[in-house]
Amino acid sequence: MATHRLLFVCLGNICRSPLAEGVFGHLAAEAGVADRFELDSAGTGSWHVGDPPDARARRAAAARGIDISGQRARQVGPADFDRFDLILAMDRSNAEVLWRLAGRLGEDHAAKVRLFMEFAPETGVGEVPDPYYGGAAGFERVIDLIGEAAHGLLAHRLAGESKD
Ligand code: 4NP
Repeated sequence: MATHRLLFVCLGNICRSPLAEGVFGHLAAEAGVADRFELDSAGTGSWHVGDPPDARARRAAAARGIDISGQRARQVGPADFDRFDLILAMDRSNAEVLWRLAGRLGEDHAAKVRLFMEFAPETGVGEVPDPYYGGAAGFERVIDLIGEAAHGLLAHRLAGESKD
């Protein structure tokens, strides 16, 4: 059976991408397909390496029955382009950093980088906004958007399996 290796990437790896990893994992578990996915998250920046997710992100996840408190931030690196088959950027600025990194690696890794919100076209929203300098409402908006994209991505990946 196919294993899907998915990496979620934002700037700090303490707000959006830990939520994306947690929400996607929760949906996959609910669908009984968690064993088909290898999930992780990382940041393009290094300021928060080793930190747990932001308390506001932990609270927004916990309110939906999702525990992300065990995650620790790390920075994305070249090895991630070998390890993962899809790298999901939360916003365009994250995607651009990843495309530049992929370009330096010399292989066709850039095609692995996609904007996460591409998987929720019905929202009309292209990026998950950075909630770091806002309040709790921003985190509710972020987790809602992430939920939409996670649903779309899970359906897309499971549909693709029948073509393996
Ligand atoms: P994230 O949010 O990229 O969703 O984890 C941020 C976290 C930290 C910072 C910026 C955004 N920061 O500037 O430290």
